[in-house]
Amino acid sequence: MAEETMSEEVADGQSGNRPRRGRVHVFPLMVIGLVATAIGIALGLLIDWFPVQAATQAEDVDTVYHVLIITSVPFFVLVTTIVLYCVWQFRERPGEEGLDGPNVHGSTGLEIVWTAIPAILLIALCSYAYVTLRDIEEAPAAGEPELIVEVTGQQFAWTFAYPEAEGGAVKSAELILPKDVSVKFNIKALDVIHDFWVPEFRMKIDAVPGITTSFRVTPSKLGSWSVVCAELCGVGHALMRQKVTVVSQERFDAWLARKQAGGKAAAGGGAAGEADGGDKAAIGKTLFAEGNGEATACGACHALSDAGTSGAAGPNLDDVLQGWTPAQLTEAIVDPNKAIAEGFTEGIMPANYGETLTKPELAALVTYLEETAAK
Ligand code: CUA
Repeated sequence: MAEETMSEEVADGQSGNRPRRGRVHVFPLMVIGLVATAIGIALGLLIDWFPVQAATQAEDVDTVYHVLIITSVPFFVLVTTIVLYCVWQFRERPGEEGLDGPNVHGSTGLEIVWTAIPAILLIALCSYAYVTLRDIEEAPAAGEPELIVEVTGQQFAWTFAYPEAEGGAVKSAELILPKDVSVKFNIKALDVIHDFWVPEFRMKIDAVPGITTSFRVTPSKLGSWSVVCAELCGVGHALMRQKVTVVSQERFDAWLARKQAGGKAAAGGGAAGEADGGDKAAIGKTLFAEGNGEATACGACHALSDAGTSGAAGPNLDDVLQGWTPAQLTEAIVDPNKAIAEGFTEGIMPANYGETLTKPELAALVTYLEETAAK
């Protein structure tokens, strides 16, 4: 029976007027489409896909996502349903090889509709996203405080500076922020393109050599989150992760003051040449925790409790520092790829500390590490 129908159709097809096989199943298709749409939207909205919202910006960003889900799932389902239906209904049966249906020429009305609907939708969604971004990036009202933080990306670590801190600029390998204060990040890169991202804040932007990019967040939750590099930047990209800690304003002020006191004790990295003994170690400690502007802070990648750093891209120095001679320490800093600690990869640590640190700075760093290991 089936074969008879088929041969009839094939015969008609050859005459160029192949009839459609049965009626189009509009009703079952609509039911399937509605069910699939409901499931898709429910999965998008009910499942908690995102990390915690740790900045005031996060809620608006998540709302943009939800609106996009609600508007795009129905169209995705519509297109997918029609494509799958056509594949199933109009597939080539045995004996139909090389046959083709009648040619369909353009339909102006249809083309206008399927161009206009996506265009209107796209313009509406883009405008909505643009307005949201403009709102959440708005500068705080006059008189409201704003904290400026300079972020520098370098293979393969971030360093941070607080240029407007009362009592003098502060550099740090760790990002500490006060809660409920608008923070403006000014972001730079020294070598290749990186991307400064804190998923819990929902904001990210490229760090591009030669220009300064920026975004604002207002941290709204106490805690520690990851600073992530979101742009493939070399062999150490996956390890370019640090920590941001959001604390109360009082603790933030106390931390800044402590940093400033430490910095002053070691004032003038350039004076490292004349310094000796305790001064030298203090300069080394500052270099370790802050870098010197050209050399990345060691603490961005290495945890060392004496320096208060917790970087994890490189070996934890609290565990491995004991028993090194000054010569071995110097070699490990200027020629890091000569011997790689177990579990770590060659090429992660910058191999240019011999150039980015002056000789006295290098000596101060080695003195500090030696004295710390002996503590
Ligand atoms: Cu820096 Cu990826």
